[in-house]
Amino acid sequence: MPPLPCAELHLHIEGTLEPELIFTLAARNGISLPYADPADLATRYAFTDLQSFLDLYYANMDVLRTEQDFTDMTRAYLRRAAAAGVRHAEIMMDPQAHLARGVPLETCVNGVAAALSTSETDAGISTSLIAAFLRDRPAAEALEVLRDLLAMDAPIIGIGLDSAEAGYPPSLFREVYDVARDAGLKCVAHAGEEGPAAYVWEALDLLAVDRIDHGIRCLEDEALVERLVADQVPLTVCPLSNVRLRAVDAIGDHPLPAMLARGLNVSVHSDDPAYFGGYLDDNLAALVDAFGLGIDDRARLAANSVRSAFISEGRRQDLL
Ligand code: HPA
Ligand code: ZN
Repeated sequence: MPPLPCAELHLHIEGTLEPELIFTLAARNGISLPYADPADLATRYAFTDLQSFLDLYYANMDVLRTEQDFTDMTRAYLRRAAAAGVRHAEIMMDPQAHLARGVPLETCVNGVAAALSTSETDAGISTSLIAAFLRDRPAAEALEVLRDLLAMDAPIIGIGLDSAEAGYPPSLFREVYDVARDAGLKCVAHAGEEGPAAYVWEALDLLAVDRIDHGIRCLEDEALVERLVADQVPLTVCPLSNVRLRAVDAIGDHPLPAMLARGLNVSVHSDDPAYFGGYLDDNLAALVDAFGLGIDDRARLAANSVRSAFISEGRRQDLL
């Protein structure tokens, strides 16, 4: 199954840290890890819910110390993404997760940005950067980091909202999104992954987001589905993530076919590919295996990813 050209719109760059690279960076930075080797680390990737994943995801990031570490991680991802058919990638990063462990904003932003600045020549992928805020930390902190990003003229095209969802509704972050929008940034937010359909409504109505990350629980609310269909709001769905974090029981129970059938603007992405069993092509292959998705559906998913990207019309036409 040759990959169709597509856009990766839901990817946490820190979630691309493969076990081998975690060990390489740990050795380079003189950090000793509590695992025997990469295979031993990988045996810990049996998650019971979003939080059980986040605990390991934040712990493993500790190996990222220098700009070069962030650059190497991002370059490794871009190489793999090119093989998956990705031609454009909008990459999320979690600045607060690095600030909280004493890594300066410039180190993480400049390190990732260095890899993105050469992505077209290195990997044939156009790229942009989205700063995601951690919803389980105070909104005041997110606002401060956003102001710092704007002050340093960070090369970001938008903001996102991630980390533990349940109990942290989008409404808490209204002011952050108002400031971002006023600064000309695009707005996305995770909603309806573990949190309820009500959080998707809030992301739409209170944060005025341009895209919803995940959104799979929208199917629990008929009026919400009608709104999402009418406005063709992009939903960036990550099937392997949903299975591994137990948002759905098994790939065969995934709502993606139902979402397509309802006329929702869904596309397929990889979330944290090093942790969830695969990259964008692996997510598509899992859907093809489980549902026999045909070429028409695969072409529609690829086209949806391109039409939902934050790119110029010229670039969109190149990719369609
Ligand atoms: N969900 C929420 N927050 C995240 C995720 C995720 O899958 N990955 C990284 N941060
Ligand atoms: Zn995500």
